[in-house]
Amino acid sequence: MTVHFIGAGPGAADLITVRGRDLIAACPVCLYAGSLVAPEILSWCPDGARIVDTAPLDLDAIMAEIGRAHAAGRDVARLHSGDLSVWSALAEQTRRLDALGIPYTVTPGVPSFAAAAALLRRELTVPGLTQSVVLTRTSGRASPMPEREQLSAFAATGATLALHLSIHVVAQACADLTPFYGADCPAAVVFRATWPDERMLTGTLATLPARVRAEKIERTALILVGPALDPADFRESALYAPDYDRRFRPRGAVGAPDEATS
Ligand SMILES: C[S@@+](CC[C@H](N)C(=O)[O-])C[C@H]1O[C@@H](n2cnc3c(N)ncnc32)[C@H](O)[C@@H]1O
Repeated sequence: MTVHFIGAGPGAADLITVRGRDLIAACPVCLYAGSLVAPEILSWCPDGARIVDTAPLDLDAIMAEIGRAHAAGRDVARLHSGDLSVWSALAEQTRRLDALGIPYTVTPGVPSFAAAAALLRRELTVPGLTQSVVLTRTSGRASPMPEREQLSAFAATGATLALHLSIHVVAQACADLTPFYGADCPAAVVFRATWPDERMLTGTLATLPARVRAEKIERTALILVGPALDPADFRESALYAPDYDRRFRPRGAVGAPDEATS
């Protein structure tokens, strides 16, 4: 018996991995994390599967579900939204499984920040503007921010910021970031990326909070901030420059029929 943790992606059912879909179809038990997993994904569970929404359950109750499946020798598909590497409660569950000696696997999913960038049709790292993306959040009831991970510390780098779980404090976040990025810095909010009711708002640190208020966006949204979001003027990367020498395209081989690109 194995527990398969599966990143279900940002929303749209066809953004789960093929591996994730196949695991769901093979597991007689499916535990899924509430409203952020599309109903269509649950339709892939085998006939007669036990399907449990874990949103109202605490960790002990979730572990009790897994314990019962373990005793019966039934594999479990454990679905979380987006990818499991960020804000998925994976660590606290795998710590319990390790202690109990229950085997598990982890299958990645499309994270919401990538889905939001795709909706905006933007690259978050642009040559000469930013070469880093910070995935972060502001303090919440369940998780206070560690002392050294304040927004100002990340903002000081000028990197593209992807602020999760923070739409309710968008005005404060934009105000805190303005001294570092400037009021005209491009900023965007993406609500429920890839769901049928997805929405995106683009603007600047100065204009975004009023737009969010007007649109009444209060949950399941990402705030993206940084110059890469509106890259009018930047230099092209060296990667595709004619005089850039690299293994698959030695200098002088430009235009050769077998030219390899990455
Ligand atoms: C508990 S975290 C889960 C993050 C998830 N593990 C991931 O990979 O993106 C929930 C937060 O992720 C963001 N989020 C999740 N799905 C989203 C979506 N489809 N569109 C926009 N933001 C989303 C929101 O900031 C939301 O408050």
